[in-house]
Amino acid sequence: MSKKALAGALLSGLFLSLMPASAATYFPPQDLTTVGAYYYPEHWDEKEWARDFKQMADLGFEFTHFAEFAWAQLEPKDGVYDFTWLDKAIELAGANNLKIVLCTSTATPPVWLVRAHPEFLITNEDGTKLDHGARQHASFVNPFYRERSLQMITELAKRYGKDKRVIGWQLDNEPAVQFDYGEAAQQGFRAFLKEKYPTIEALNAAWGTAFWSQIYSDFDEITLPKRAMMFMNPHQIMDYRRFAASQTALFLDMQSACIKQYATPAQFVTTNYIPNYGEGHIGTCRNLDFHSYTRYMVFGDKTGIGPQGFRVGDPLRIAFANDFFRPIDGLYGVMELQPGQVNWGEVNAQPLPGAVRLWLWSVFAGDSKFTCTYRYRQPLAGMEQYHYGIVGTDGVTVTPGGKEYVQFIQEIKQLRSQAQPGAKAPASYTARRAAILHNHENDWNMERQKQNKYWDTEKHQLRYYEALKAFGAPVDIIKENKDFETYPFLIVPAYQLIDEALVERWKEYASKGGHLIISCRTGHKDRFGRLFPVKFGGKLFDLIGAELDFYDLQHPDGQGAVRVGNQSYGWFTWGEAFKPYPGTEVWGTFENDFYANKPAVIHRKLGKGTVTYIGVDSRKGDLEKAILQKVYQVAGVPVLDLPQGLLIEYRDGLGIALNYSDQTLDLPIAKGKKHLIGQLPLPTTGVLVWKANE
Ligand code: GAL
Repeated sequence: MSKKALAGALLSGLFLSLMPASAATYFPPQDLTTVGAYYYPEHWDEKEWARDFKQMADLGFEFTHFAEFAWAQLEPKDGVYDFTWLDKAIELAGANNLKIVLCTSTATPPVWLVRAHPEFLITNEDGTKLDHGARQHASFVNPFYRERSLQMITELAKRYGKDKRVIGWQLDNEPAVQFDYGEAAQQGFRAFLKEKYPTIEALNAAWGTAFWSQIYSDFDEITLPKRAMMFMNPHQIMDYRRFAASQTALFLDMQSACIKQYATPAQFVTTNYIPNYGEGHIGTCRNLDFHSYTRYMVFGDKTGIGPQGFRVGDPLRIAFANDFFRPIDGLYGVMELQPGQVNWGEVNAQPLPGAVRLWLWSVFAGDSKFTCTYRYRQPLAGMEQYHYGIVGTDGVTVTPGGKEYVQFIQEIKQLRSQAQPGAKAPASYTARRAAILHNHENDWNMERQKQNKYWDTEKHQLRYYEALKAFGAPVDIIKENKDFETYPFLIVPAYQLIDEALVERWKEYASKGGHLIISCRTGHKDRFGRLFPVKFGGKLFDLIGAELDFYDLQHPDGQGAVRVGNQSYGWFTWGEAFKPYPGTEVWGTFENDFYANKPAVIHRKLGKGTVTYIGVDSRKGDLEKAILQKVYQVAGVPVLDLPQGLLIEYRDGLGIALNYSDQTLDLPIAKGKKHLIGQLPLPTTGVLVWKANE
């Protein structure tokens, strides 16, 4: 198939039929999980490879990872390929029983290609261009760059697509959404708009261009919006972001389709996303077998709990990523997990002893199928000299983090005979199952028009997530393409952009017995980001059983508070006051200001279920937690009350507790159970694994 035909087929959805395979195709369930490490043969003296692979295998690693940034070594001259070194590395790794994940090195084009075609270098918003000498400087939207990449990938896939030692492929490296202002992007954006809007009049209406004389008479008059310009048309920016996100996804889909032409179905194709949930490209590829992510937990930021928390990391950072990535395909893995100090943070501290193992268990707890680490050896040259590996600068001494990997690998191998792959989790846990509905376009819209500079969409969503995890609830972060009805509880936080069909789905969900919890800033705008020509918020009145009277914002030093029962909860970023219809209960009222006593939290029955609307974003997330607790109570579902930093999950017949707190904890829930790993009480960074069904 020609490259043009390939691109056309992708766009027409032909490759949809290649999706998706089940987890068992790639990862035997009885293995539970498998652990690997990145190795860059091209960085090391060939004489050391055999020693390194032997030690990697002796330490217990089961796979390795090659060729991520090696385009210059794979194609040293235009059209001249050199696979001898990679053949040899695969041979040696295979001889040590290590499986291999191969990469497409599109994050690092060789200099001969860049100098011959500087037009594919990314152009910044200010007109400056990126250059050779770092990485990730090529534009995904550039047709020549795409074609040239596919040529190289074709050669790679032809050579290794049937190789039994190769288990799968990672595309690019942490492919992100690029904001390229080059000519190809400009042309691409216009083509995207022409495809989306039947006429220029339709675009004018969608973007509200009557405002400030912005009317276009031809698509060719449209340029890429300057995001730095404060007053730039927000609808145009949303479409630009949609376009930019689609281009990253399309490039990955093209790469995947190219590999799949030559690879056996036993080889998976995935990539390693940074969990930047708001970027908008994650989950939109149609031709990946599953989605993987990368995670770095300790990089100097003061996250985590207590004075040593910055050495342990935010307890929800891996959990949320697990719960975001798993629902996309029902299967995920972690492609990079830090083995020790990194080089790129502001203060690159050592992790607390035990933290690396805690992260490995945290990845496992989310039902992941593999974890790989960046990287096996600490590099001696280049930008990442201070980045720890599984072994240190001498290439053989195992680092403290490396030892924790080894411990985890041994623990997993020990559990393989005791777990029950696929066993159902306890009924009390699954009864608490909740979904959080997410659409990055809401985040884009609110971030651009915050109304209160302190408003933080991601933080707002996390408040609900944190409460659910404290209840010991399994959570999926889902998109609208999922069936809501499989979740007893559905949280819809700050879901600004809606259409009537979605409101109907929410109604149906509650009517059939679901418990729907909606929060402030939901449903005010249509999918183009325009307010509806009805009373403000009016599209939801029927569903929530109330009229939205008005919204208010307070200064951070304001006294805004909402009363629920005997408790008072502070707020300042966003508050909505309601006029409830008869039959709608008032669960919380504003305490002060000129609207004291007005309803801020309302609740109603709808068919067999309930609808709750929480009109404020509280300061600490305590109001959200209290209301969720009340909803679970109404539903007759008991919840746990876990201390901050303690997480509990179940998989494969195992209960898993993870202690991110700065306290030693006792765990009533695991008392009397058969402990397989760890013991009580559970120290900071401690992990307890028990047999769940005994
Ligand atoms: C990741 C990246 C790796 C490596 C690592 C260093 O974000 O994917 O290639 O640079 O950071 O921590």
